Amino acid sequence: MANISWTVDSNEALVLSLVRAQEDKQVLGKNESFEGFHPTFTYPIYGEDEKLYGFQDLVIDFRFASGSLAQFLSVRYAEKLSASSTVDDVENIFSSFIPPGYETEEEAFLARVENDASSFQPIGKCIHSYTRPAPSSSSEESSVEYEVYHATFEDSGFREYHRRMQIFILLYIEAGSYINEEEDGWDFVVFEKRKRKDGTATYHFVGYSSLYNFYCFPEKVRLRLSQFVILPPYQRQGHGSELYTAIYNFVLSQPGVSELTVEDPAEAFEDLRDRNDLRMLLANEQLMNEGFGTQSATASHGGGRVQKARSRLRAVPQSASGSTKSRGKMGPPVDRAWSEKWRKDLKIAGRQFHRLVEILIMLHLD
Ligand code: ACO
Repeated sequence: MANISWTVDSNEALVLSLVRAQEDKQVLGKNESFEGFHPTFTYPIYGEDEKLYGFQDLVIDFRFASGSLAQFLSVRYAEKLSASSTVDDVENIFSSFIPPGYETEEEAFLARVENDASSFQPIGKCIHSYTRPAPSSSSEESSVEYEVYHATFEDSGFREYHRRMQIFILLYIEAGSYINEEEDGWDFVVFEKRKRKDGTATYHFVGYSSLYNFYCFPEKVRLRLSQFVILPPYQRQGHGSELYTAIYNFVLSQPGVSELTVEDPAEAFEDLRDRNDLRMLLANEQLMNEGFGTQSATASHGGGRVQKARSRLRAVPQSASGSTKSRGKMGPPVDRAWSEKWRKDLKIAGRQFHRLVEILIMLHLD
């Protein structure tokens, strides 16, 4: 008899879906799919080796209503090893990471999806909106609208909403963990806003970011961005950049907030942050005229120049990055008082600002 393996990869077994109501599916383009994607990590849930033992063809079917994030969990398999203490208790382990009350009957879940889709409204205050061209095969629409909402646990229903979305942190951020609900925090959530044929709008979750407040002597608050996720069906379409820029502009608009810092950023996030910070600096004419010289460094040329500078920065040995000595070699040294004034006005954390200044100096060596 062939050797049958009873071990499966938990990242492959777990299948996620963002489920829309029938009416909302009708306006989707043919290539728009929000169902059947996988997590990047399951080790916080199923252990370091991300393996599950005791099943054939295991599927952990975990679905969300696309807006309200009401959850459905169903564990299915072709075969299970007969009662053995080594067989993983797949559902119970998983359910300890999500709020109680999730649906387990498909029919009840689909009824919930239909119901929630027409009643769900994002919680908090809309602070930014933007559009993207509609997928080409989409019916009627030429563009799709997205909105970023700012919410805190003071907003009615948001604590519960947060408990439903925070599972994405474990599934997509390496070393991610649930935030402490007792700490003062701000959240920013992106929603896709889609028009039904009858003209009514429905909202669909895209991603979110959590920030903590830190008191900053004497009376200001420093905001630390600690979590940031855009779900896979929405990645690489500029949503991360829109969310980050919305957060940054919101921080700039708050007189009580002194700066935006980032906690332990993943490499992909650092890239996104650099790109957007540089675009913002290059678009700041006063800064460019005062410190970085030429009019040619305008935002319209920003993309190519930023790209070039980033690749050049990568070529710089690690030890050179950030040190004043090496900066002297690469370009004119920057006046400290001048730099600090701009850094404070722009509310950028020290290390990040100095990195950006270095990149800009390299741009102007061209
Ligand atoms: N078409 C194709 N590509 C595009 C488009 C577009 N319309 N718009 C942007 N892109 C490209 C960008 O140029 C960029 O490419 P590059 O990385 O090669 O430079 C890339 O897509 C990503 O940019 P965005 O689309 O703005 O970012 P995205 O929405 O994909 O979000 C993020 C990036 C947040 C890292 C996302 O991939 C994610 O959630 N990953 C998993 C979780 C994670 O790692 N989070 C960060 C943890 S760190 C922390 O929390 C502090």
